Amino acid sequence: MVSETHNLTKHWQALDAAHHVHPFTDTAALNKEGVRVITKADGVYLWDSEGNKIIDGMSGLWCVQVGYGNKDLAEAGCEALRVLPYYNHFFKTTNPYTVELAAKLATLLPEGHERILFANSGSEANDSALKLIRYYWNLRRKPEKKIHMSRELAYHGVTFAAASLSGLTPMHPQWDLPLPGFAKVPTPYWFGARAAGYGDLDQEEFGLLIARKLEDRILELGPDRVASFSAEPIQGAGGVIFPPAAYWPEIQRICAKYDVLLHVDEVITGFGRTGEWFGSQTYAIQPDIITMAKGLSSGYQPISAISLGPRMADIILNANEELVHGYTYSGHPVASAVALKNLEVMENLGLPARVKDSIGPYFQRRLQETFEEHPLVGEVRGKGLLAALELVPNRPERAFFPELGKVGTHCRNYCFQSGLISRAIRDTMVLAPPLTVSEPEIEEIVAKLKGAIDRTAHDFGKL
Ligand SMILES: Cc1ncc(COP(=O)(O)O)c(C=O)c1O
Repeated sequence: MVSETHNLTKHWQALDAAHHVHPFTDTAALNKEGVRVITKADGVYLWDSEGNKIIDGMSGLWCVQVGYGNKDLAEAGCEALRVLPYYNHFFKTTNPYTVELAAKLATLLPEGHERILFANSGSEANDSALKLIRYYWNLRRKPEKKIHMSRELAYHGVTFAAASLSGLTPMHPQWDLPLPGFAKVPTPYWFGARAAGYGDLDQEEFGLLIARKLEDRILELGPDRVASFSAEPIQGAGGVIFPPAAYWPEIQRICAKYDVLLHVDEVITGFGRTGEWFGSQTYAIQPDIITMAKGLSSGYQPISAISLGPRMADIILNANEELVHGYTYSGHPVASAVALKNLEVMENLGLPARVKDSIGPYFQRRLQETFEEHPLVGEVRGKGLLAALELVPNRPERAFFPELGKVGTHCRNYCFQSGLISRAIRDTMVLAPPLTVSEPEIEEIVAKLKGAIDRTAHDFGKL
């Protein structure tokens, strides 16, 4: 007998197939397979419409810092919906939720970042940041400074500008991107260095070499033409790539020397992920402009922000003219109320410190202990509650499988089957659990990932 829940699943799958176009998906192929319907979530767990319980090792899309089902956030949203469901900031108005949020952010952000603009997604924040960078140079009467530099494998979002900034090349051909005026430099991906032909440099030598590629490129393009360099403190969607210690100080030196604005994209690394409020604090970076989203509201509401460091704030806010920019939903009261409550909850639970001092080190230790000798794993790397495992054909070699992505996808599917959400980026297995994850939940994640990696190793003749 076909159960009621199964009928419901079929019903939603049919509606989805008929009417819903999915992001980053071959929708026709998905429709043949049948989509998974997620119906509820609590803590670090999700449930699908068939009643399967799944542990979310990815915090959704790297965003659910406080875990699912937080009642304080829900209450804050409900209250704002009742009291002030909408109003904007265009016509000499503001609202208490948004001003409190801006003021709170100013206390958490790196020093000097006291002026905040709001948007609705990471992509929009990055798009806005590039406009603000252009505006800054126009105000400084250096309108020829227009080239935006960023890195290979970077992910900064999907608007025309954010996708142009992104260095994941499959994001470009469908849309004739990147736009003119965008330039890329290599990224400090040490595990891939040998395969990319850099030989056997140690991590710090490699970090310096790659940082100096930025200097070479700025000199090639002409410092007078380069407006900005954009980067994530740790590259997320590009493969969870941690910079060697020498990398960021050298980048900082180069940006200062050639008067290039440093835009730091904290969309993943913001809000406690690396054990500080911001990745810029973890790596002692002093950005001119920061973009943030995701963990700002733990993903409970769509909201993002852009903070201006002192030199940009000083010029832009003293321009004595209208800033011709803003969205209907910039600083939406409900999203602001939820984000504000989220920061309060994170502070009360001491989540950044928990990631730095207890649960983060526990997570990293358990991953190292479990996988450092595994025949399919070439490297286990991580910081805080962010980690990556490289699946490789021959572990001592730092070389990749010839058909990049096949083994990773195979392993990712086993994870799904066993009730774990992990993500495969090429053949790199990635984890970023909620910052509230407990030690037993980490044990469950590690055990499920071990099962999936063992089965994958077996299928590819490595176990
Ligand atoms: C570093 C980074 N920047 C920007 C974005 C884009 O954010 P959104 O999907 O909210 O537009 C993402 C999304 O994953 C991201 O990881």
